[in-house]
Amino acid sequence: MPVPLPPEVARAFMETDEAPSAHLDMLNAISFRTAGAGLRLGVFEELANGPLPVASLAERIGADPLGLRLLLDALVGFGYLVQPGDAYANSENTSRWLLRSTPDSFAPVLSFWTTVVTELWGDLETSVRQGGPTGDFYAWLERRPETLADFQTMLRRLAGWLSEEVITLVPAPPSGGRLLDLGGGHAGYTAAFCQAYPELRATVVDLPGALSQGRAVVESAGLTDRVELRPGDLLTADLGAGYDLVLLFNIVHGYDDSQVAALLDRVAAALNPGGRVVLLEPLAEVPERPPGVADAFVRAFSLNLFHTQGGRAYAFDELAKLLTAAGFGEPEERMLTRSDADHLVIATRT
Ligand SMILES: C[S@@+](CC[C@H](N)C(=O)[O-])C[C@H]1O[C@@H](n2cnc3c(N)ncnc32)[C@H](O)[C@@H]1O
Repeated sequence: MPVPLPPEVARAFMETDEAPSAHLDMLNAISFRTAGAGLRLGVFEELANGPLPVASLAERIGADPLGLRLLLDALVGFGYLVQPGDAYANSENTSRWLLRSTPDSFAPVLSFWTTVVTELWGDLETSVRQGGPTGDFYAWLERRPETLADFQTMLRRLAGWLSEEVITLVPAPPSGGRLLDLGGGHAGYTAAFCQAYPELRATVVDLPGALSQGRAVVESAGLTDRVELRPGDLLTADLGAGYDLVLLFNIVHGYDDSQVAALLDRVAAALNPGGRVVLLEPLAEVPERPPGVADAFVRAFSLNLFHTQGGRAYAFDELAKLLTAAGFGEPEERMLTRSDADHLVIATRT
């Protein structure tokens, strides 16, 4: 949580150059890391039922009482906890956002990004110097079931929030049509399209571990007879042909220009003439996007994509050029009212 500051101190750091803003960044980085530790140690979940003194909390989560007290004191300073008397309790914001049982909990997001920043960002300078990623992000993720579950949960919940609007913005596929969801993982978007179009049949291609949430989503939506979950590498697997709609949702940002071009060629070959490809992407250089959290996130995310995958957030014009080169006509950008960061790009196979 950003360090709580009286207005005149905030002004000195942020609106004047009387104090180094990097000092605040340093504290905010430590705040983020201590929150991740509180989450991983189970502090917030243990305090969900009410305040506890440090000794009982230490016993319940199996921690050293002194180490835990120092962590709790830091979390109080950062606003994640409060300290009524001798006991510690979750702050209101922590109770609202960091408990796993809340349907729109931020815990999977905090947990996932804590792991990314602590495990993958240590060599940020290397990727910037060498011009490419220092590892294989998705192979790394497939080896970490808990982080993978956080990642897919985070994206599945975003899909739950965005799907309704996405479906209204994508032209309807023909009755009895076929949808291909490349890198569709949790299958939330596929399930939403199949629910909106009862004649639609779908195939989701993703890595084996990523499909485990997809399996649960498809089963609970009663769609097992209409949705095929196909483990495979979207860059090399035989995609087949005869599709009317291909979803590339949060996919192309993981690749460099030449890989995106090759992928779009494969998608064009899999689509029927007149079929559509739909990209969902956090786009760079969106003039309508107001400065603020979404803009800061897209810039940070783009750097993360370059560092971990060799990709980046693309601008609409760049994607339109790549789509046109792959044989798609009339690429169009659609803004979403439910997110300042995410945009649709829709194009038709000529
Ligand atoms: C950022 S997630 C997007 C998931 C989903 N499409 C969405 O928008 O919520 C990227 C997905 O692509 C999958 N993926 C990445 N590389 C892949 C590859 N080489 N072959 C198949 N799937 C891949 C990941 O496992 C993950 O599910």
